[in-house]
Amino acid sequence: MKTIAITSGKGGVGKSTIVANLAFALSEMGKRVMVLDADLGLGNIDVLFDLRPKYTLEHVIKGERGLKEIILEGPKGIKVIPAPSGVEEMAALNQQQRLLLIEEFRSVADGVEILLIDTAPGISSNVIFFNLAASKVVVVVSPDPCSMVDSYALMKVMALSHSKRLFDLLVNNVRDEREASRIYERLDTLASHFLGATINYFGYVPSDPKVPMASRRKRLVVEAFPESKASSRLFEIARKISEMPERELSPEMVFFSEERSWERP
Ligand SMILES: Nc1ncnc2c1ncn2[C@@H]1O[C@H](COP(=O)(O)OP(=O)(O)O)[C@@H](O)[C@H]1O
Ligand SMILES: [Mg+2]
Repeated sequence: MKTIAITSGKGGVGKSTIVANLAFALSEMGKRVMVLDADLGLGNIDVLFDLRPKYTLEHVIKGERGLKEIILEGPKGIKVIPAPSGVEEMAALNQQQRLLLIEEFRSVADGVEILLIDTAPGISSNVIFFNLAASKVVVVVSPDPCSMVDSYALMKVMALSHSKRLFDLLVNNVRDEREASRIYERLDTLASHFLGATINYFGYVPSDPKVPMASRRKRLVVEAFPESKASSRLFEIARKISEMPERELSPEMVFFSEERSWERP
């Protein structure tokens, strides 16, 4: 299984939009996809899929429900694991809760080919945990200077405190590919120079009014406007994920292995 965390330093850069649309596009390509909403304070991926969860990860973490029982079925058979919204205590998981989650994940992994993790923004311990648990970390950045600074801060913490030095960059909300490349070049130069980190260019999604337009209709842009410019890039990124060889993924992944690199201080 490919485990891909979609993460960012700053909120509102398009993580959830990208996760939901990639999940849909990958499912259309025949992949079996699961989406994990890992924003345990302000989860909202269920809204993008127009689902109404009765139970969330909050119930799993409290031991009241098994993970199997809270999984929802989204469009195209996408399995969706919803997070609580507006629950302060879920914002920082302790070690025991993390172990419980990992155990529970092993029990629902059967048949899933791609797990997309929509993380909270920032550098909280949960964000770091889910990023370390994934085999690929895709950092979403927008042209907003604050987003660039915050994504650098996230990579800095991952690199210097957790020895994670390989990232993929997805540039969202740009005018065109040239703007995306410029942002990528700048971050890659900084990260390699100061962090000894490598950033791969994962792709870009242009700013496209069809994205919020679809959202207002409770649809995904790749579904409602498959011919739009945002959709064509999203389909391309989905194709890239589906063709990604397993060996390209880092061996640090812990969700389904015994290795627990995130337990390191
Ligand atoms: N490429 C894009 N073009 C236009 N609007 C976008 C694009 N990507 C995201 N948005 C809009 O930006 C807002 C924030 O996106 P969201 O996915 O919720 O961000 P995050 O999950 O990172 O907080 C949403 O209203 C979404 O519709
Ligand atoms: Mg979000």
